[in-house]
Amino acid sequence: MFSRFQRPASGLARSLSTSSSNNTAVAVMGASGGIGQPLSLLLKLNPAVTKLALYDIVHTPGVAADLSHCETKAVTTGFVGADQLEASLVGAEIVVIPAGVPRKPGMTRDDLFNTNASIVANLAQAAAKVCPKAMIAIISNPVNSTVPIASEIFKKAGVYDPNRIFGVTTLDIVRANAFIAEKKGLDPADVNCPVIGGHAGVTIMPLISQCTPSVSFPADELKALTERIQDAGTEVVKAKAGAGSATLSMAYAAARFTDSLIKGMKGQEGVVECAYVASTVTECTYFSTPLVLGPNGVEKNLGLGNLSAFEEEVLKAGMAELKGSIKKGEEFVAKNF
Ligand code: 2OP
Repeated sequence: MFSRFQRPASGLARSLSTSSSNNTAVAVMGASGGIGQPLSLLLKLNPAVTKLALYDIVHTPGVAADLSHCETKAVTTGFVGADQLEASLVGAEIVVIPAGVPRKPGMTRDDLFNTNASIVANLAQAAAKVCPKAMIAIISNPVNSTVPIASEIFKKAGVYDPNRIFGVTTLDIVRANAFIAEKKGLDPADVNCPVIGGHAGVTIMPLISQCTPSVSFPADELKALTERIQDAGTEVVKAKAGAGSATLSMAYAAARFTDSLIKGMKGQEGVVECAYVASTVTECTYFSTPLVLGPNGVEKNLGLGNLSAFEEEVLKAGMAELKGSIKKGEEFVAKNF
């Protein structure tokens, strides 16, 4: 049911760059950071990406020069500092935003709000002005609030299209697939587990009953696995011991999501990814569910599907926090912009 990121047969760019009449311009905002650099590398390896604009407040000329020596098609250009922000977005069809600060041990994603809210709002303002039709894929935390922030900014600019603004929750699906495969001795490439809701703690809602292939666990193991998926970001924050949060797996997940966006935009049928978008599926006005991606972004929201009794409880447990995070993002824009 769910499409998979087309993994390269080998890690060598030469083996990737055979196909594709696709020409896609992608801008990475925050390209010098812990997620931004590996994400930019993975996008540089994607044969469908022909223009790669790297924006950050420091170091992008170096990152771009470095990446430009990879023997792939994407013409890679660095843009540095506020003066070059708008230029970095000219012609962008997809804008991926990993900019901002990461968590340190003991922090929640919401603790990043004060710093990252303005960063995302400023980038969204520039995108709304320069490339209002682009797909916006937001990684910067707290995603549960930064997606409403970007959406409010686009509304204020009069260019809002709810089908084009996404919170990237793909890492939750990637983690669920990896952990389930590990537990069941499966090849992770064959596992597809939808994860709905938001992207923080209890708002992350794995739907293991909808996993393909079908898997089952005793109640205690199911609870532990669900909690591990919900806390997996924190697992990495703890392991990095002050050096930040997930960067490599997040870059992988965002590259997978961007690849799916490109495929949908270029007319490939049946491209499905979960992402956090404006939604009427639950009483939360933003919610992640499986989405069919198409030329105009969200083509169809596939909704919740059938939930087990356990998943109904998981859903209930996360709703209040998610609603609060959405409100916080919306109020931030109302007050400051
Ligand atoms: C994570 O889930 C960084 O939010 C990101 O690890």
